[in-house]
Amino acid sequence: MKRFLGFPKVFFLLEASEYGFILASLNVKIVTMQFEYTNNSLGKISSDALLFFAFSDGKKYLPLGEFKSIDEILDGELSKVCNLERFKGDKGELITVIPAKETLFKRVVIVGLGKEDEFILDFLRKAAGHFAKFNKHKIDSVSLKLPGELEKDNSLELISQVIAEGFMLGSYEFNKYKEARKEQRDFSTVIISTKDQDSKAISKGVEKAKLFSNATILARDLVNEQASVATPSYLADLAKQIAKENPKKISCKVLDKGQAEKLGLEAFLSIAKASDIPPKFIVLEYKSQKKAKRKVGIIGKGITFDSGGINVKPGDSMQTMKCDMSGAAAVLGAFSVISALEPEFDVIGIIAATPNLISGTSTVPGDVAKALNGKTIEILNTDAEGRVTMADSLSYAVKMGATELIDLATLTGAAEVALGTDITALFSNNANLADKVKAAAFTAGEKVWELPLEKEYKDLNKSEVADVANIPNTRYGGAITAALFLEEFVDTKPWVHLDIAGPAFITSGNEIGPKGGTGFGVRTLLNFFIENKI
Ligand code: BES
Ligand code: ZN
Ligand code: ZN
Repeated sequence: MKRFLGFPKVFFLLEASEYGFILASLNVKIVTMQFEYTNNSLGKISSDALLFFAFSDGKKYLPLGEFKSIDEILDGELSKVCNLERFKGDKGELITVIPAKETLFKRVVIVGLGKEDEFILDFLRKAAGHFAKFNKHKIDSVSLKLPGELEKDNSLELISQVIAEGFMLGSYEFNKYKEARKEQRDFSTVIISTKDQDSKAISKGVEKAKLFSNATILARDLVNEQASVATPSYLADLAKQIAKENPKKISCKVLDKGQAEKLGLEAFLSIAKASDIPPKFIVLEYKSQKKAKRKVGIIGKGITFDSGGINVKPGDSMQTMKCDMSGAAAVLGAFSVISALEPEFDVIGIIAATPNLISGTSTVPGDVAKALNGKTIEILNTDAEGRVTMADSLSYAVKMGATELIDLATLTGAAEVALGTDITALFSNNANLADKVKAAAFTAGEKVWELPLEKEYKDLNKSEVADVANIPNTRYGGAITAALFLEEFVDTKPWVHLDIAGPAFITSGNEIGPKGGTGFGVRTLLNFFIENKI
């Protein structure tokens, strides 16, 4: 596509990623959105849409001053339409003005951010996402200038990162199985008007956004893929590919059923044995270039489909159960870009991957399995399978010498009931680690809320015949009792458990993505990697 970018100077920093080329040979979709930089003023850039943001109090259009100059170019048409349409700048409000006059920009779009004093940076990500979602098949390109006035609270790098993430995540679709996708027009180019001296910070934020978005999209694709395709072997092959991409920093080991048996992963296999689909126990290791003392274990629940097992789920609750490997998807997403972010500590990723199906050889209620750490589990309900497989993956991480653990699991419907579909339930035995994860999640725009690991509820998981039962003797407090179950397998390591059952898979879309897999947790993990120096 030919585009007039004008005089005097245009500079491209497209592939000059300081993070290097990643994901290149992975057989996964990567965002191909191009970011171009120019020091032309907004009115002199040719694009399909020119984007502004607005605060609702005092109708403050961002970037300040720019709105006025564009309005002047349009002989006041912009303010006239905004007034006529009573555009206020409320959160989620979006207005499109197609100028009567011939201009280089085909339309002007303004997205509301809500009240200025309630503003947090994630609203900007959402506003950019909302713009992308609304326009993704109408436009090829957008031009904008970053709202520099937000710089008093946030770095320019972070401002550009959240906007770029909004564009890339908001444009995401899972249309692999849709015939109609062929004729689609796709939003593919972002032109940022900037001063030379700011371009470095901006492009740094954009490059980070590319990593964060690609990793999130990889996770979304894995979750949205049908369970008959996204099998344990599929996840294992992807893990191997990720390691192959970066052999100096990442290694991968995949245990098959026989090897898992030998090692004593009985809890994991007790769930796997109901299916002919081969289970895989996946171990990824990232080695920091520094001699690190910390080894962070990230553990993802990898139930590739949860039928409930012998305690079969009712049809309605089973429909979305391809999402039960969302924790695993987050771990794989994070590992796909980990070497570019270079955390200063070692990281291990563990996924016990299997479907939870039904057959004549299924585990049945009352069966007992021994986890890798020696504790025995009475399986009273085969639908509480995640915690049983996680018993082994957590124990394995501890055995590998993890100094701290973060797990992500679509573990309980109770977490979704408690906090809704936007918020993840966070549990922890260590306030310091919990604070770090909360901070990383906040920067990522991923909501978490801590629930208590109430010791006095521990007895609810008691078993008559084994060390612990896989379901409690009450249906109340189900997210807490599940977390307390997992705690049996973390030794005394600092540990954060994220029950992502609500946000991992959404049944109506939000500003930064469609219904389906969200890739929740990926960006929290990536921020955790960067924000935590040794
Ligand atoms: N995978 C489900 C939890 C889930 C529910 C994830 C909704 C995503 C959305 C889990 O394995 C499960 O079935 N948990 C049971 C536990 C119960 C049997 C103690 C639940 O939450 O009902
Ligand atoms: Zn289940
Ligand atoms: Zn499950």
